[in-house]
Amino acid sequence: MKQTNRVSIIKSPANIAFIKYWGRSSTKDILPLTDTFSMNLSNCYTIVRLEVVDDSGVQELFIKDYKAETHKQDTGTALLKVQQYYARAKKYLGVTKNFGFRIYSENSFPKKAGIASSASFFSAQALAFATLFEKKLPEKQLSILSRLSGSGSAARSVCDGFVVWKKGANSTNSYAQSIAPATYWKLVDLVLILTYQEKKAGSGEGHEGAHTSPFLSCRISSTKKRIRHMLDTFKTKDFVTFGRLIEEDAVSMHAVMMTQSPPLYYWSGATMEVIKKTLALREQGIEAYFTIDAGENVHIICEKKNEKKVFSYFSKLKEVQEIISNDPAVGTRLIG
Ligand code: PMV
Repeated sequence: MKQTNRVSIIKSPANIAFIKYWGRSSTKDILPLTDTFSMNLSNCYTIVRLEVVDDSGVQELFIKDYKAETHKQDTGTALLKVQQYYARAKKYLGVTKNFGFRIYSENSFPKKAGIASSASFFSAQALAFATLFEKKLPEKQLSILSRLSGSGSAARSVCDGFVVWKKGANSTNSYAQSIAPATYWKLVDLVLILTYQEKKAGSGEGHEGAHTSPFLSCRISSTKKRIRHMLDTFKTKDFVTFGRLIEEDAVSMHAVMMTQSPPLYYWSGATMEVIKKTLALREQGIEAYFTIDAGENVHIICEKKNEKKVFSYFSKLKEVQEIISNDPAVGTRLIG
């Protein structure tokens, strides 16, 4: 009989990038090409339950998908990724002992659909491994460890509220930091679920292909200016300028995606329809802006005071299956 000693529960949010990470300067160290900027999401998160098992031969993963009744054991790709990450985390933290573990992971939103499920999962996993190894890590180190999972954006989920991930020059100085707490600005991210289907192309291969786009250099130089402008705007809470910059950055990233080789077309007809409807809403005098990650689903950013109107407008669209409404949120936490 395999015995279970310690149990820990970790909650970690997904995040929506206002200035996005696309393409890497180092594949091995997961270093981004520019600084990036994001907000953590209150209702899109992963809960990881870690059970430490005495027998170091036991390494098991159970996943409960969005709206699923129960956890299912994964013995394929997801387990392999967790085991690879376990090995990397051990190396990074200088741990020599082997550990047995059982991980139960549960998502409050659909995975692999452009809502940063890898960021919430791997940031939770980073804290789970630190806990497994009995290491108390400062936030900076937890952010680096999250980045080393392979999902660079996981580095941002660790910190509270509004977060900047400085690209850094090497693995030890590329990490995220909170620039304002979740209470700083009442912004809302309405995640419009247009499809529950998992995307075909993951961001891993996508980052590799970014270098083949003739527009990448243009994106890098414009993003450097854009993030400065956005952070100035963030200080004054000028939502109209902020929203325009959010859209500009999303479109710039997708221009690279669509022109890289092989090309990545994440947008569907439904995505395009929502974009047009967002512009139409603004013509009615309601400020709401779209942003899209590596997936078909759309994030609509607005201020809290307009949330009800914006929610009601988009919930009437036939393309929208469900809306998950998010306030800014704290980062990765041990909750039990
Ligand atoms: O962190 P990754 O490897 O899952 O890549 C995330 C890339 C985007 O979500 C498209 C942009 C971002 O900055 O979150």
